[in-house]
Amino acid sequence: MCGIVGYIGSGKQEKILVDMLKHLDYRGYDSAGIAVIKQNQQNSLTCKIDVTKTKGKLNSLEQLLKNSNKIPKNKFLVKDDFNTEELQKQIETINELNEADDVNSTCGIGHTRWATHGEATTQNAHPHLSNNNEWAIVHNGIIENFQELKEELINNKFTFKSKTDSEIVVNLLQLNTDQDNKLPTITPLIETCKKLKGSYALAALNKNFKNTLFLARKKSPLYVAKSKKTIVVASDPICFAGKTKEYYSLNDNEFCLCTGNKIEFYNLKNEVIEKTAEKLENLNQTKTKTSYKHFMQKEINEIPDVLKNIVKRYSTNNYLDILDKVFIKKFNKVVLIGCGTAYHAGLIGARYLQDLARIDASTSVASEFRYANPIIDNKTLVILVSQSGETADTIAVCEEANKKGCTTLALTNVEYSTLAKLAKITMPLCAGTEIAVASTKAYVAQVAVLYLIASKLSNELLNKNINFLENLQKLSDQIIIPTKQDFITLVDEISKKQTAFFIGRDYDYITCEEASLKLKEITYINSNAYPAGELKHGFLALIDESSYLFVIATKRDLLEKTLNGAYEAKARGANLIFASQFELENEVKKDFKHILQLPKVDENLAPLSSIVAFQVLAYLVCLKRKLNPDKPRNLAKSVTVE
Ligand code: F6R
Repeated sequence: MCGIVGYIGSGKQEKILVDMLKHLDYRGYDSAGIAVIKQNQQNSLTCKIDVTKTKGKLNSLEQLLKNSNKIPKNKFLVKDDFNTEELQKQIETINELNEADDVNSTCGIGHTRWATHGEATTQNAHPHLSNNNEWAIVHNGIIENFQELKEELINNKFTFKSKTDSEIVVNLLQLNTDQDNKLPTITPLIETCKKLKGSYALAALNKNFKNTLFLARKKSPLYVAKSKKTIVVASDPICFAGKTKEYYSLNDNEFCLCTGNKIEFYNLKNEVIEKTAEKLENLNQTKTKTSYKHFMQKEINEIPDVLKNIVKRYSTNNYLDILDKVFIKKFNKVVLIGCGTAYHAGLIGARYLQDLARIDASTSVASEFRYANPIIDNKTLVILVSQSGETADTIAVCEEANKKGCTTLALTNVEYSTLAKLAKITMPLCAGTEIAVASTKAYVAQVAVLYLIASKLSNELLNKNINFLENLQKLSDQIIIPTKQDFITLVDEISKKQTAFFIGRDYDYITCEEASLKLKEITYINSNAYPAGELKHGFLALIDESSYLFVIATKRDLLEKTLNGAYEAKARGANLIFASQFELENEVKKDFKHILQLPKVDENLAPLSSIVAFQVLAYLVCLKRKLNPDKPRNLAKSVTVE
């Protein structure tokens, strides 16, 4: 949550910062802002910090910058849709165009916000300035002891313009600055961070040091890279694509002083430390919507290719080789961890482990598990499922599990992520960049890789002969992506509703949870999922003639029982929608207002194919409600705070 960038170099800083932020608006879009150092017009020997910020998405900031002539009005509109090569070309051209007329501006920082403390207003937008206007800061994370620190600062006569926790950081920087120091040092930032509890990625600039950036990291990602003439800083190295070939990743309690084109790293003791650069690989992915209207639509349509990609990578790499009999016999417990959609994938994963390999596995929500005093030790295998690999609670569980001697296995889509580095074993999800906030193709990839793991263990432990890669390959051709025409009346009806219900049993109940999450997060319909056997235990009280109840049934042996639940709801007036790979008798069909025919696939693989129809349904209802499926309100793609 929150994306931060920094830049030292020539060119139109404002434009470059906005272009870099464009890669990061998946991390939050409540507000956006930049700060650059400018020469004082009245006195060319001094500089000032020029802040431009506004509530709303990045294009509001861009508009503001254009209106104030800080970026060219007619050139290089930041599109919602771009690819890294194109972006690089734009930046190079802008640099050439502006180098001559913009020698004043040498460094800047930028921010895209997901509000934690203080509502989404311009005042609360980053960057924040210190009381003496000498420092500006952008922050991703949460300062847990900010109230206490704020009181201390107020006692020291500091005043505050925002309600954020971040503004205390910039004022602490002022407090820790030795005004006699004529050269930039990292000391004020280290001293400031020593007082902070919580998580942060920080980038700061000081008006007295024209081409300098000050960086710090604890529990929120931060990367820095340099080329001959520039230094770039970002929450995600995707921002460096096309600019550099390698980058550095800051670890917790590490600091960085960037001056000119020099980067120096420090530890908390203010000692210089050496760091090794990492290669910037697999980042030149195209982030265009191509012919699709939205990223969500594009990503759903990519699902068959994602499955093919998984098959390709898992058949040409030895990721699964570690999962042999000796390995799995070391453990008396397998725990799967995730948040939101990744948690749902984990639920399916535990069922796969149980069904296919007869391994007793359980799944927990990361934020619950970490505070539940879990009994885990060196006999526990902890599987952490995360698309981004940056989810704070999932990372915290991984850290704790590592400390307790567990074997940690990360399933992540971002191979350079914090989680990928932290876990003892990492397996890629191979879904390609997922931009839309609502996870679609990554969910299917998570379930698919969990299927591979469970099948491999089944072959090892139970001497089975599951051709799991072939099965997945076959499935990739069986998946059907429904079109608008398939859903036309259903979408009309659902889009007018305030509530919706989903019921299913076993795997289908988990699909119900995921389908319901997808619907609520992008349409804001209050949708809820229940196990079909639970109706009589309370939830039936909600049912009346206005209710729409989705019934998902992909398991033959549970079909009758699921239908019984559906009838109980129908008897109370519910409108039923049946979703299944099985055909109903004509007589039975009459009981259903709508029927969604799901693809006929191997029952074990149905969780992978049945969710697709509901992803499409949520997308279409969202459009009908005239909402933006890629950026639902109040949410962000990467949840880097607890
Ligand atoms: C919902 C969704 C979220 C994420 C969750 C975990 O569509 O995308 O529920 O699944 O925030 O994110 P990752 O997988 O990045 O850990």
